[in-house]
Amino acid sequence: MIHNLFSHYLIDWNRNKNKREMPWKGVKDPYKIWLSEIILQQTRVDQGLKYYENFITNFPAVQDLAAADEKKVFKLWEGLGYYSRCKNLIHTARVISSERNGRFPDTYEAILELKGIGPYTAAAIASFAFDLPHAVIDGNVFRVLARVFGIREAIDTTAGKKIITALAEQLLDKENPGEYNQAIMDFGATVCKPANPDCEQCPFKNDCTAYKEDIVGLLPVKIKRTAVRTRYFYFFLPQYRNAWPVRERLDKDIWQHLYEFPLIEKKEETGSAAIVAAAIKKGWIPKGTAVIISPVHSQKLSHQLIKAVFISYRLNEKNPRFENYNWVKAAVLKTLPFPKTITQYFDKTGAGIFN
Ligand code: ADE
Repeated sequence: MIHNLFSHYLIDWNRNKNKREMPWKGVKDPYKIWLSEIILQQTRVDQGLKYYENFITNFPAVQDLAAADEKKVFKLWEGLGYYSRCKNLIHTARVISSERNGRFPDTYEAILELKGIGPYTAAAIASFAFDLPHAVIDGNVFRVLARVFGIREAIDTTAGKKIITALAEQLLDKENPGEYNQAIMDFGATVCKPANPDCEQCPFKNDCTAYKEDIVGLLPVKIKRTAVRTRYFYFFLPQYRNAWPVRERLDKDIWQHLYEFPLIEKKEETGSAAIVAAAIKKGWIPKGTAVIISPVHSQKLSHQLIKAVFISYRLNEKNPRFENYNWVKAAVLKTLPFPKTITQYFDKTGAGIFN
């Protein structure tokens, strides 16, 4: 496939066939573009949409986000996962607000210096907001180029990444970088999809190496498999009147800055008798208390599988053994950000704390 034809076909597809509508499309405000791209870094568009709308409603400009109470921002992020994105978002909003008077930097290099912004996001902001010629390179781009140009090098190796990066930069329509970048992502998401790509409707049908050689399903090649670690979380829900003990997770671990109930973590699945005995030993459960033990709730994160069990019981007095926790009433609990593993448990069981 001749290189300048690629961008010609792509732009033609974008103008005549691309039906994808998203609220940040065509937007020039770098704050809005930045926000949408951070949300979309590890989140599907359909899931990210309502978070984007909510953020823009609550924080119409970068100064609003910079001035916001962190807890409120984390609450709005609740359920999106990868909470370091949220932490960096707040940090960068404050830097832009206080050090740059609310003005977003307008060169690729300066954008790239901001916390939480890597080459992909910098290229997206630079091209969408400032029409600068930087190619976005994400999973969509890897897949489209590997197929159309028949690249068999594994895309999760340094060599494979180099080849595709160089190609992506050559192919970029330098006159039209914003439109080109949005078009290739939309094309990857709606036509050249990971599974069941729509090759019959594809403008590259006659030129695509993978299609011609019947290897569309085999490209792009990936060789590495990420190891998944399983963690067993036993959460204790001791209810005293209308209150539960909670604390903020402060360690550099999953869910940093989210809240949790008293937790015993185990490396292995542990039976309910053993886990209740452990909690009695810690003084968390008074001997003889009736407990309700939930089934296992699983949540898959990118490199971890969380298996959570919830142990509910009532107390007749505030148990002083929860010394590092704060007793919080249901109405306040609802305003705190919790991991999805916890909110989903309450949503599923209708246990009522959060609703
Ligand atoms: N994924 C990440 N950024 C995107 C964008 N601007 N449009 C569509 N999908 C995306």
